[in-house]
Amino acid sequence: MAERFKAPRGTFDVLPAGAPVRRRIEEVARGILEAAGYGRIEVPIFEDTELFARGVGESTDIVQKQMFTFEVQGGRSLTLRPEATASVCRAYLEHGMQKLAQPVKLWTDGPFFRHERPQAGRYRQFTQIDAESIGSDSPLVDAELILLAGDMIAELGVEGVRLRLGSLGTPAARAAYLEELREYLHSREDKLSEDVRARIDVNPLRAFDADDEGTRRVMDEAPTLLERLDREDGEHFDAVRKLLDRNGVSYEIDPTLVRGLDYYTRTVFEFECDRLGAQSGIGGGGRYDGLVEQLGGPPTPACGWALGVDRIALALEGGDGETERDGVFVVAEGDDRDSALALVTELRRAGIHADLDLAGRTVKGQMKHADRLGARHALILEGDGKAKLRDMSSGEEREVDPATVAETLSSP
Ligand code: HAM
Repeated sequence: MAERFKAPRGTFDVLPAGAPVRRRIEEVARGILEAAGYGRIEVPIFEDTELFARGVGESTDIVQKQMFTFEVQGGRSLTLRPEATASVCRAYLEHGMQKLAQPVKLWTDGPFFRHERPQAGRYRQFTQIDAESIGSDSPLVDAELILLAGDMIAELGVEGVRLRLGSLGTPAARAAYLEELREYLHSREDKLSEDVRARIDVNPLRAFDADDEGTRRVMDEAPTLLERLDREDGEHFDAVRKLLDRNGVSYEIDPTLVRGLDYYTRTVFEFECDRLGAQSGIGGGGRYDGLVEQLGGPPTPACGWALGVDRIALALEGGDGETERDGVFVVAEGDDRDSALALVTELRRAGIHADLDLAGRTVKGQMKHADRLGARHALILEGDGKAKLRDMSSGEEREVDPATVAETLSSP
């Protein structure tokens, strides 16, 4: 036999049973974002490699190790999009959206690609819902975005979610702070664990995550970036916090929150779900006031987030997952089998979820199949224009006229 194929490592098929939860996530996102004035944008699945290198940042893991990059005729280098923000900003500039009333609010969703080490909740192809608000530095923008993401998570019923909030200030304040932190750590090297010591110059912020007792004591006293923000950045952060408080959003301040993309300035945030394992981040984002300019545009403040559809689906699958019965299954024997197709077609045209037996099952087999499909009713054709409608949950049956059954089923 010929060798069979498998989906590539880090990818998966969404089978029909997995489709409803994903569709619901997309529908809730669309409803909430469009009601808030976010317009739908679709951007290409691949872009010039340079867009991501410059946008996401040369030094990030994403650009250094995780991009699916390929060359096309003429030697041009293209990359499958690892995220949406750089592409949305590119489109904003390409279509002169800076001339529209600001901010321009855009949302999109679809597949994204990162060559990461696959594990539960971490894939090489994953789905994001992404929202961006470009052109205003008002703290209202940050608060609005966080509220919308929070509302989506709440409406979907994802449990055990917490919001971590921080501010990164300006790149200059951040660089000065990192230098100060390195000096602080070097001056206490003897009290630090070996791995933290080895990484002081590469990534001093890692020291905040250490479990080791000695390191922890040192870090309790360490300066934090939030204490070193410029005055205006500090005020912006306070304003965002006040707006969140006023709107009843609970959050934890995390002075060491860092994100895997270089473009962030000021506000950063992450939503985490404790029902998931190591990959608990179900969404994240922040302000990126320098990105549009970095991509060749005028100075343009902006803020946004992306939610991970696959991880939210995983978190929801852990729930009771009870789906409601829906639709009608037409049960028929003998000559009635052929009338069943016409009847099902009529019901479908009336917007009713309807199905019939396509495999020559007995009446008993058809009833079993109707149950397996989760039909709410079975319509049993009994010849001579007679039929019975059976409620599949209660087992109750009543006589109905097949000619008017579409009406019967449509009325509540
Ligand atoms: P991000 O934190 O890299 O941000 O990704 C956002 C979310 O996408 C994560 O919280 C996670 O749920 C999901 N995600 C990321 N990588 C994977 C993966 N390999 N497998 C499964 N899910 C994944 C961004 O992408 C920014 N562009 C968000 C943003 C928009 N910031 C401003 N605007």
